[in-house]
Amino acid sequence: MRGDEVDVARHQVERGVEEGREPLRGWGEAVFGFEAAGTVVEVGPGADPALAGARVVAMDMTGGAYAELLAAPAEAVTPVPDGLSAADAVAVAAQAATAACVLDQAGLGGGETVLIESAAGPVGGYLAQLARRRGVARVIGTAGGRAKLAKARERGFDEVVDHSEPGWQSRVPRGVDVVFECIGGTSARPLLDALTPGTGRMVVYGLISGDWPAVEPADLEPRGLSLVRATMAEVDGSRSEVLALAARGELTPLVDSALPLAEAAKAHQRFEDRLAAGKIILLP
Ligand SMILES: NC(=O)c1ccc[n+]([C@@H]2O[C@H](COP(=O)([O-])OP(=O)(O)OC[C@H]3O[C@@H](n4cnc5c(N)ncnc54)[C@H](OP(=O)(O)O)[C@@H]3O)[C@@H](O)[C@H]2O)c1
Repeated sequence: MRGDEVDVARHQVERGVEEGREPLRGWGEAVFGFEAAGTVVEVGPGADPALAGARVVAMDMTGGAYAELLAAPAEAVTPVPDGLSAADAVAVAAQAATAACVLDQAGLGGGETVLIESAAGPVGGYLAQLARRRGVARVIGTAGGRAKLAKARERGFDEVVDHSEPGWQSRVPRGVDVVFECIGGTSARPLLDALTPGTGRMVVYGLISGDWPAVEPADLEPRGLSLVRATMAEVDGSRSEVLALAARGELTPLVDSALPLAEAAKAHQRFEDRLAAGKIILLP
């Protein structure tokens, strides 16, 4: 597969990369990168020969995507619909599919108020867009600092709270039906106060801080709250759907920036400095 236009800077901000800890596996190859978009130049034995020449995204590889040519397992490849650029396809393929998969597990019926953490990040931004499509009435986001808060508002969040300020959880409006939790650690527990007693739920799908949320059954039961740990088992099933939505202009790809592959280090630095608001794309 030829990475015609794009490759992806994948963040490693999560610290849970040691053996046996989620969410990231260790790199299986010397070359970084496990998401790419490009054109199939050669099809291996057993794979569908019709893929030759197809524009595809390749997801969840064990590494090797920071390159001009890469080998991807056939099951990792999804065709890109006409009209969607490679950059936009790779911006949507992992994070929007993740958001769709997480939303499927939130038990939404329409009319809810939801809280989405890391609202200026790609998964957060897609959660907001897709939640609206599912009838959510009010979308509150959290982000760190003025620039990220402004970006979240620009992307359609109704209200935003700065999660870099001490005690920020007390500024989250009460009456939230679902918290989409991805930071983890000790910051999650105080958010339970914002959830509607009896029906409120916290859907956990990430641990940016490096730890799962410190929430115990005793924190939930007396208030009738529940905690759902979202699985990614169905994420591949959501990929074609979100690519099609983006191709029809019904989902906005969230791109922070695009840099030449030679500037991969700059891309990583941008991510580590928490400056990225969306996907960083590398162009081979
Ligand atoms: N990417 C995927 O395909 C995928 C799949 C499954 C699960 N997830 C999970 O979804 C969550 C969001 O993913 P994403 O790709 O959209 O990432 P992201 O939101 O871009 O994550 C990075 C951002 O997290 C925020 N953050 C909050 N607390 C932080 C802390 N303690 N240290 C560093 N950064 C912190 C920072 O934004 P502020 O400056 O606003 O604080 C930072 O820029 C992650 O937990 C990830 O594990 C992602």
